[in-house]
Amino acid sequence: MVRPPRGAQTATILFSLFYRKNPTAMRRHLLAAALLACAGFASSGALAQKQEAPIIIKFSHVVTPDTPKGQAALRFKALAEQMSNGRVKVEVYPNSQLYRDREELEALQLGAVQMLAPSLAKFSPLGVKEFEAFDLPYIFPSKQALYAVTEGRIGRGLLRKLEAKGITGLAYWDNGFKIMSANKPLLTPADFRGLRMRIQSSRVLDEQMRVLGAQPLALAFSETAPALRDGVVQGTENTPSNMFTQRMHETQKHLTVSNHGYLGYAVIVNKKFWDGLPAGTRRILERAMAEATAYEKTIAQRTNDAALESIRRAGTTTIHTLSPQQQAEWRKAMAPVYARMEERIGKDVVGAIRREVAKP
Ligand code: LMR
Repeated sequence: MVRPPRGAQTATILFSLFYRKNPTAMRRHLLAAALLACAGFASSGALAQKQEAPIIIKFSHVVTPDTPKGQAALRFKALAEQMSNGRVKVEVYPNSQLYRDREELEALQLGAVQMLAPSLAKFSPLGVKEFEAFDLPYIFPSKQALYAVTEGRIGRGLLRKLEAKGITGLAYWDNGFKIMSANKPLLTPADFRGLRMRIQSSRVLDEQMRVLGAQPLALAFSETAPALRDGVVQGTENTPSNMFTQRMHETQKHLTVSNHGYLGYAVIVNKKFWDGLPAGTRRILERAMAEATAYEKTIAQRTNDAALESIRRAGTTTIHTLSPQQQAEWRKAMAPVYARMEERIGKDVVGAIRREVAKP
């Protein structure tokens, strides 16, 4: 038999002598001990529950899961959940399942969702018009030139402008250069005359269509494929991945690989939510975002090339490429957009981007 140590034996004897003389004290002490035990149990239970309840990030977006943005959102989810050992749970809602373009920005500001990646063309309703610089026709001569802007001082400066709107900008995600589509071949600027063209809600894109002689109509992304199908608009511009995943090629007979403009995203979070996270968790999420962003960069062009190839194979759409002379005509026709929109976007931003992309 294992004997208790001598000191413990002595204490037990002394306690039992004391309680035999004071039975009321014994009852009181037992009750207090029971209450203390219960409180301890309850608070450790609450603590455990608090520790176990994951932090939920609702990430809403408007495209399908197999687009560059859709895939990167899922990669971020996987990384964030794994790196945080399940302390963070990311719920991705694709395809405008929760909100459409403008609504999702309001939902983010209200805290109904925590994370979005709207296209850079959609920030002006927030009062941050500078992002429309990304919509200027032919502003980026290459992806390298684009990255020099998004990954450098200009890109960081633009994201900081969101802070005043209760939004923290985390990263830029790439999609690609846009192509034009319609139910007739679009080879010269004159071909646009009178066509109703769907655009994203950007004044620069509105002006771009107007200088071509088209009638722009801003529609939410989720409304675009139905509008093309029902003839509400006759044409549009987008990246091949967005066109293919929305099956726009099934109703658009002609497509021109014009690469006349750029479509990319800013990944943003509700600032109050982000600032309220434990610092360690925020650092983990920043790392997960950095990795997801690097991944996104590797898949954007590839996904768009594959989408264009899928459209070609579907055989429903004639794909046109522009001759050097036609390209020059398109550039010339769209050039007035700069002078008309510079004031609105901010001459300093447009100038800074133009200087950056001109660097060898
Ligand atoms: C569009 O509305 O055409 C795009 O911004 C959709 C997207 O998020 O890529």
